[in-house]
Amino acid sequence: MKKGLFIVFEGGDGSGKSTAINSIYDWFLENKIKCIKTREPGGIKIAEDIRQVILDKNNTAMDGRTEALLYAAARRQHLVEKVIPALEDGVIVLCDRFVDSSLAYQGYARGLGVDEVMSINKFAIDGYMPDISILFDIDPKIGLQRINNNDDREINRLDLEKIDFHEKVREGYGIIYSNNKDRMIKINAEKSKEQIVAEIKDIIISKLDTKISLNI
Ligand code: TMP
Repeated sequence: MKKGLFIVFEGGDGSGKSTAINSIYDWFLENKIKCIKTREPGGIKIAEDIRQVILDKNNTAMDGRTEALLYAAARRQHLVEKVIPALEDGVIVLCDRFVDSSLAYQGYARGLGVDEVMSINKFAIDGYMPDISILFDIDPKIGLQRINNNDDREINRLDLEKIDFHEKVREGYGIIYSNNKDRMIKINAEKSKEQIVAEIKDIIISKLDTKISLNI
């Protein structure tokens, strides 16, 4: 039985998700709330190994469907090995990306079809969906600029895609959001880090009120 809260951060590359996750994670720890932060693809050994294959800049021959299947495989393993056990333990899980990434990147931007990509993911996630998905919406030009200015971040195979691809990813997320407003919340990721974190805290508090009562 799921007792924790599954919070997913979605958005284009360089949208500031990781920075926000770190701040929210620290906030939970300061408030003595059990919480983990993790990411897709990755978060556990098998999925990190799959991540290496997917994002390797030398794997230029990778077929779009292969890419979608590898993301779904990494998702499955991460979910059963890390996310579900934590949620069952009452832990809040902050996850950098989940199924909407595959819908926006592979389904929409790669042109494989959102419904087709959802169908392979249904098999992978077996009904498990986030309690909250927060979409970081940003002009991809600003996002990519941020990545280029960040010396600590290694450029991966998807970062090398042309700007049109990243524009499509944003468009894809926009469509997914319009069709799923009941489970997604969109924030303007061009705002300051402080504003974004404050907004996310409000979103989480309103969700926690209805879910579990905590003293924050
Ligand atoms: P990251 O840089 O956010 O860790 O993600 C690695 C890249 O993988 C990023 O460009 C987004 C992409 N991605 C997909 O294309 N589909 C997916 O399902 C996921 C989880 C990530």
